[in-house]
Amino acid sequence: MSQIKGFVFDLDGVIVSTDKYHYLAWKAIADQEGIYFDEQINNRLRGVSRMASLDIVLEKAHKEYTQEEKVALAAAKNDIYRESLNELKETDRLPGVTDTLNYLKNKGYKLSIGSSSKNTPLILKKIGLDTFFDAVSDGNNITYSKPNPEVFLKAAEMIGLKPEECVVVEDSTAGIEAANNGSFLSVAIGDARKIKSSTYEINSMDELIKLF
Ligand code: BG6
Ligand code: MG
Repeated sequence: MSQIKGFVFDLDGVIVSTDKYHYLAWKAIADQEGIYFDEQINNRLRGVSRMASLDIVLEKAHKEYTQEEKVALAAAKNDIYRESLNELKETDRLPGVTDTLNYLKNKGYKLSIGSSSKNTPLILKKIGLDTFFDAVSDGNNITYSKPNPEVFLKAAEMIGLKPEECVVVEDSTAGIEAANNGSFLSVAIGDARKIKSSTYEINSMDELIKLF
């Protein structure tokens, strides 16, 4: 493990429990439009950009939506989602996150965020981690959504490391695929464990302490 010098953490579903708010916001939009939506479909939205997520939600729609309508639906989803972020606080960090991040930082690893979310800066501020990471790469500085590795490659570049020197930690299948596509080692947590193509699988963040 000596070549490992840094980490790229996904945010939603890895550092913080915002994934449930994404689900509830999409569910509200789907219900309003009379579109079937459940947790299984929601799992396909993990790691996927807002507009690409909407396209997945609309697969079960009974009509075609114009680009203008799609932009309005995505904006409405984001309004509902951001409303729920008002309540977000430090205790919404997922179990083991605080101790594990401190442990890795104290061991000298470079730590970064690689998230598809354009709400990343707001979320990091709400949970008190806005100045903690060495770099933040997010939905605001990328063109291609996971499984394209762009967001992780930019994070690695920002912390001055090669992909081979970084471990990506992800809860989405799109994110594990992105890590593989970018030649990163990967750790799957939560839903991402099901695809069995990550380097490691963990049940909670504190298991990283045993691995690294
Ligand atoms: C990812 C989430 O982190 O961010 C996805 O897993 C979400 O579900 C994506 O669609 C984009 O988020 P946002 O906050 O820009 O709508
Ligand atoms: Mg995620």
